[in-house]
Amino acid sequence: MTLRLAGVGDADTIAQMSRDLIESGLGWRYRADRVRRLIVRRDTSVIVACDRHGTVGFAVMQFDDEHAHLTLLAVRPSHQRQGVARQMLQWLLQSARVAGVVSIHLELRASNRAALHFYRALGFVQTLVLAGYYEQRESAIRMMCLLRAPEQAPPPDDWLRRAQRR
Ligand SMILES: CC(C)(COP(=O)(O)OP(=O)(O)OC[C@H]1O[C@@H](n2cnc3c(N)ncnc32)[C@H](O)[C@@H]1OP(=O)(O)O)[C@@H](O)C(=O)NCCC(=O)NCCS
Repeated sequence: MTLRLAGVGDADTIAQMSRDLIESGLGWRYRADRVRRLIVRRDTSVIVACDRHGTVGFAVMQFDDEHAHLTLLAVRPSHQRQGVARQMLQWLLQSARVAGVVSIHLELRASNRAALHFYRALGFVQTLVLAGYYEQRESAIRMMCLLRAPEQAPPPDDWLRRAQRR
């Protein structure tokens, strides 16, 4: 099994996997055109896991200055529980650390117990439940993983004045 950055030629496969493994029962939002646009964006990493037969998993992470969002992640059922998603996420977490990202955020369908277990096993914690997040039909669980402490904000003026008086 190898991991590599996705190219635009991977867009069709990723879109189909997203439809079948992530978005099933909801509208299909990550169609090939949209995935192609993500692949070429400079602030987005799209990676695929492949064996000799083809693509077995993929992941999409979008970065801004201090935060990153894990947008999509899936592994074919035939290849689950073999550490494929763990390897993909570790790649992305390492990229985020190198980029100085403070925290990673994601949402998952509230019914998706496998993903909830997976993200907890990888160090994510639940922060919120978002009612009706998916087309008003299903709630989402929001999770985050802290990679480093944020820069300390400078103390407010009145705090400084009190500290100087002591
Ligand atoms: C969630 C998902 C990505 C996990 O992928 P995976 O390659 O099977 O995960 P890994 O093998 O790397 O699992 C790592 C650890 O996560 C936990 N884990 C993964 N799947 C689990 C499950 N079904 N039940 C309980 N724990 C699970 C375990 O601790 C596992 O370690 P272990 O196998 O040594 O016990 C996969 O089930 C999947 O693609 N599901 C459909 C799409 C999806 O739900 N995507 C995420 C939301 S966008």
